[in-house]
Amino acid sequence: MSDTTSITEYSGTHQAFHDHWAKTDDDMCLHSMSFHLHDALREEFFSSYLHLLEQIPLGKLHAVTCEYINGEKQFYHRAQKFYEDVTPSEEGMMGDFVELSEVDLEGSRQFLKKFVGGPGKASTKRALDCGCGIGRVSKGVFFPIFETMEMADMTEEFLLHAHEEYLGDYADRVESYYCYNLKDLILPPIRYDVVWIQWVACHLTDKDLMEFLKRCQTSLRPNGVIIIKDNMARQGCKLDPTDSSLQRHLDVMKFIIGKAGLKVLDVQKQEGFPEVMVPIWMIAMR
Ligand SMILES: C[S@@+](CC[C@H](N)C(=O)[O-])C[C@H]1O[C@@H](n2cnc3c(N)ncnc32)[C@H](O)[C@@H]1O
Repeated sequence: MSDTTSITEYSGTHQAFHDHWAKTDDDMCLHSMSFHLHDALREEFFSSYLHLLEQIPLGKLHAVTCEYINGEKQFYHRAQKFYEDVTPSEEGMMGDFVELSEVDLEGSRQFLKKFVGGPGKASTKRALDCGCGIGRVSKGVFFPIFETMEMADMTEEFLLHAHEEYLGDYADRVESYYCYNLKDLILPPIRYDVVWIQWVACHLTDKDLMEFLKRCQTSLRPNGVIIIKDNMARQGCKLDPTDSSLQRHLDVMKFIIGKAGLKVLDVQKQEGFPEVMVPIWMIAMR
């Protein structure tokens, strides 16, 4: 299947699921456990859940996503645990594909150029790097262009390493570090020329991603742009329960973006990565 195949090509499968669930819902006592599991999942993964149900049984899917551990949804708890064991290094950020870091950064620089600097484009006053890790993208793409940066990540150790070591003198130009899960991060209004979201949209549920994108939109300065860069599934959606990452097909991602009230300006595939790897796409929106 091509990467741009429309989600509507799955309408047959989806219709079958819809019919099944519609019937089940009608027949079922509304207070039954199954109804609640089904409903919670649909609420959280409104665009991805049928794809997920195709691969993982309802009970297990609910457990690894919506069940709570210490007041935190398993979905987020697992990701937190996963990143606690990741070294604060470029290798850690690239998941052992560190040799592809420069290819990735160059692809980002070229894509960013389309939207920043020049008449009608975003200015270069301030950018926000979301899920920044140790600041690999900030260092390689943003600091050479932007006057100041703000950086957000849920893993404190990564932010500390960024500030104390990895960014060197660039650290003086960081206005704020936000140590938050993006699902809880409230952004100041009209502040950023670029909001960059790389390899972290995959760690948010559909609903939390949609809500976060809405908040990003209100944080944009005139001509500002939001860019998501992430692994996108060749087909449907794929959940990795180890680190709670969700690869979504580009069309599924676009649907969530549309639900957030944003307009897609451009999409581009990252070139230069081995074909065997999951395709990486960049999506610009405002
Ligand atoms: C694969 S690393 C990518 C780091 C950086 N974007 C890069 O490209 O080098 C994913 C980062 O997202 C952070 N992260 C994962 N889930 C998050 C969440 N829900 N909120 C904030 N940060 C999150 C992790 O701590 C980690 O630093």
